[in-house]
Amino acid sequence: MALNKELIDKIIKVTSKAAISCGQFIGKNDKKNADKAATDAMRNEINKLEFNGEVVIGEGELDEAPMLYIGEKLGSGGNLDIDIAVDPLEGTNFVAKNLPGALSVISIAEKGNLFKAPETYMNKIAVSNKVPYDATDLDFSIEKNIKNLADSLNKDISDITACLLNRPRHYEIIKNLKKMNVKMKLISDGDVSGALMVTDDKYNVDIFLGIGGGPEGVLAASAIDAYGCKFQGRFIFDSDINILRAKKMGIKDLEKKYELHEIIKGDSIFCATGITDGDLVKGINIKDNKYITETLVTHKSANMCKIVVREDTIKT
Ligand code: FBP
Repeated sequence: MALNKELIDKIIKVTSKAAISCGQFIGKNDKKNADKAATDAMRNEINKLEFNGEVVIGEGELDEAPMLYIGEKLGSGGNLDIDIAVDPLEGTNFVAKNLPGALSVISIAEKGNLFKAPETYMNKIAVSNKVPYDATDLDFSIEKNIKNLADSLNKDISDITACLLNRPRHYEIIKNLKKMNVKMKLISDGDVSGALMVTDDKYNVDIFLGIGGGPEGVLAASAIDAYGCKFQGRFIFDSDINILRAKKMGIKDLEKKYELHEIIKGDSIFCATGITDGDLVKGINIKDNKYITETLVTHKSANMCKIVVREDTIKT
């Protein structure tokens, strides 16, 4: 069974409302309240929807997140059982500092089809659907991935662009990319957007790689799936508490490299609404007493990948 297309507008409303609510904290240097506003609004909207939902990727575990925690049941009931992955505010720094790229993000799939994982880091790689599947791999060296990518895309290595988070943990990767004369797009935050930039030539990114948030990896994977691009990820369980949580969630092989189809299966709907302007979508705008939001939407079974503009009257 596929997810009903009538659900799309409702899911767009969920991330739009979360984005709008969070918007009041743009530039207020208040990450905590920005995240809370997005989380409260998202939960409130999801609870209006007629399904039995369970959060599989959320704001953390019950003991650390009062809302949208992993395992939380959402929705008003009905016959549809679904898994929900959320990141009400992806890019807390962006909102706090009034910088481009903040999003409100959700992905839904039928029950059992979205990977359930504790909040931890993930090593990721993503490339476009123009690259043959075997050309790149999370386990190849940087050199091999870049060389194969350049060969596949018929480009010079110096014309390849790699996107990754600018973090000290990526020092070796950055050093190697520099040595190979690869162009880098070093992002300060927001690796859901980073990974999604391989989906279209207009973003000028050939490969996304490196270590970022696991939840962000699962969310990006679900959108990438609809574009037919490649994504692989390996969770990093490097503390006793994370190992314990992973085991409790049924993850047996802690070193496993996950292919896209193991992270998300079947049909899915993904929505990312802009809070501040970014590469993928524009941020919240106010015009004629209305909030205007832009949402990147994918619906796997309908082969739909598009940007939807929504208007919401400002209540006075
Ligand atoms: P938040 O919105 O939760 O702050 O996440 C922003 C982000 O940049 C993610 O996009 C990314 O996956 C993660 O943080 C990277 O984590 P870290 O900042 O610890 O390297």
